[in-house]
Amino acid sequence: MAEAFNDKVLTGAKAERYAQVAEEIAAVLAGEPNLTARMATVASMLAATFEHYFWTGFYVVDPDRPGELVVGPYQGTLGCLRIAFGRGVCGTAAETQRVQLVADVHAFPGHIACDSRSASEIVIPVFDAQGRLIAVFDVDSEAPAAFDAVDQAGLEAILSHVFAA
Ligand code: SME
Repeated sequence: MAEAFNDKVLTGAKAERYAQVAEEIAAVLAGEPNLTARMATVASMLAATFEHYFWTGFYVVDPDRPGELVVGPYQGTLGCLRIAFGRGVCGTAAETQRVQLVADVHAFPGHIACDSRSASEIVIPVFDAQGRLIAVFDVDSEAPAAFDAVDQAGLEAILSHVFAA
């Protein structure tokens, strides 16, 4: 299954590629309940599909430290390990439970620069089947304003299918 995906190049318009990779992810994860495996697979397959993704991964709600996110499975350069709820783009997404679509990270108050090459960012809250926040999914790009409503809709569909279904 992994080899078949790794050999494949998804083409087409962005929305179409989100739909294609959503199907690929669902096929790979069928029957796999482990949360780490599910998060690692989502991060890997999305990072491999989109050229505008520079850093791709999860910050997980830490069950041992209330109000804190801890880094989870990701693809990219070294990320910060912990982010408090309310801090930066990820912490804001966790606290408000709302998607953060940031065209210019340098203009975002309190943005945490784990890698100075990041220029724009999208962060999607991730919920389980009971509607509890379990993580946020963070994608950074080296290009300014790299993410739009198509990325948001594509990611929301994949994340709700993988973690809340
Ligand atoms: N920029 C993020 C921090 C996480 S990293 O970019 C990997 C933020 O402000 O939340």
